[in-house]
Amino acid sequence: MQIDFSALKAVFNPKLRPLIGVDVSSTSVKMVELVDAGHGEPRVERYAIELLPRDAVVDGNMAALEAVAEAVRRCWKRMGTSTRFVAMAVPTSAVITKKIILPAGLREQEMEIQVESEANQYIPFALDEVNLDFQVIGPSPSSPDDVEVLLAASRKERVDDRVVVAELAELKPVVMDVEAFAIQSAYELVAKQLPQEGKGQIVALVDVGAVATKVTLLKDDQQLYVREQAFGGTQLTDEIMRAYGLGAEEAESLKRSGTPPDNYEAEVLHPFVENMAQEVARALQFFFTSSSYGEVHHIVMAGGAVLVPGVVDAIRARTNANVLLADPFAGMAIAPRIRARQLAADAPALMLACGLALRKFDQ
Ligand SMILES: Nc1ncnc2c1ncn2[C@@H]1O[C@H](COP(=O)(O)OP(=O)(O)OP(=O)(O)O)[C@@H](O)[C@H]1O
Ligand SMILES: [Mg+2]
Repeated sequence: MQIDFSALKAVFNPKLRPLIGVDVSSTSVKMVELVDAGHGEPRVERYAIELLPRDAVVDGNMAALEAVAEAVRRCWKRMGTSTRFVAMAVPTSAVITKKIILPAGLREQEMEIQVESEANQYIPFALDEVNLDFQVIGPSPSSPDDVEVLLAASRKERVDDRVVVAELAELKPVVMDVEAFAIQSAYELVAKQLPQEGKGQIVALVDVGAVATKVTLLKDDQQLYVREQAFGGTQLTDEIMRAYGLGAEEAESLKRSGTPPDNYEAEVLHPFVENMAQEVARALQFFFTSSSYGEVHHIVMAGGAVLVPGVVDAIRARTNANVLLADPFAGMAIAPRIRARQLAADAPALMLACGLALRKFDQ
């Protein structure tokens, strides 16, 4: 199993096959299946979300393989699909990427040998402990006789535990992507909805998950800045548990449902939302002080925790940016079995699963 971020080097061409994007994150398994609605236009065929037991996945590490596989299996059943081919991703932090320069016109095999010898210099572990992949990006900007090659290496166990989880759930992993690359693909769909498609503007992509908030500053397809903070929806769950003496599952359902106790909004929800807005504002301040930029035009909010009511308004109030929830499916056709409103509500949490499902359409 190779790390595959081009889909070209997959064992067979996934474009010809149905494919499910599978995001196994710290609190849930999320699946998205996109099909070709004609002319290579994606249509949302199915999706499902299945919660994971607490601590089954910690820091992108499959701590409880069996429990994770069980949730993957339940999620797949819920999908009601016959497709067993899946695209998964390793955490960005588990991958080292490096651009190298090689002579143009090498044959595949010669290139592999060159890549391995270059990789030896850059990768701080033995090569038999890593999965290595590479992709020719194009001609070198500085010399016409050379090409730029992107090299990606991941510790084998990070790839292997995902393969094991899929196989225990009787699924076949055919694409192993890198989270940041897959999210970038989903983001490109979101960017199309921005005024002038966001061209030339500074966009902050903010993903507030369960335990981490990841902020990426983008200008066109260029990453200007990345920051990760320890903040997420679990903080709200914990506060609900503490305030009302509830268990984790009850707290989780109180958070999502509409019947909270009277003092919930003022004493529990509002402080959490304000904290989130403060975290986002702080991340932007760090970006401004570490760069020559002084402005952000759009803030695109993704991740499950942004579904908490009031988030968009609170962030708008603290920044001068246009704040919106990420919806990679906006403008896509949707199968009749899917409720469009529910999909739009879940969409910010489905960026990674969507980006992975899009690999089917890669050239
Ligand atoms: N409808 C909802 N209302 C409020 N909170 C929600 C809702 N749906 C999900 N969440 C919260 O979002 C968080 C999960 O978000 P997400 O699925 O993006 O995280 P994750 O990818 O599992 O976590 P991480 O990225 O930190 O590994 C949880 O704290 C969950 O309670
Ligand atoms: Mg996540």
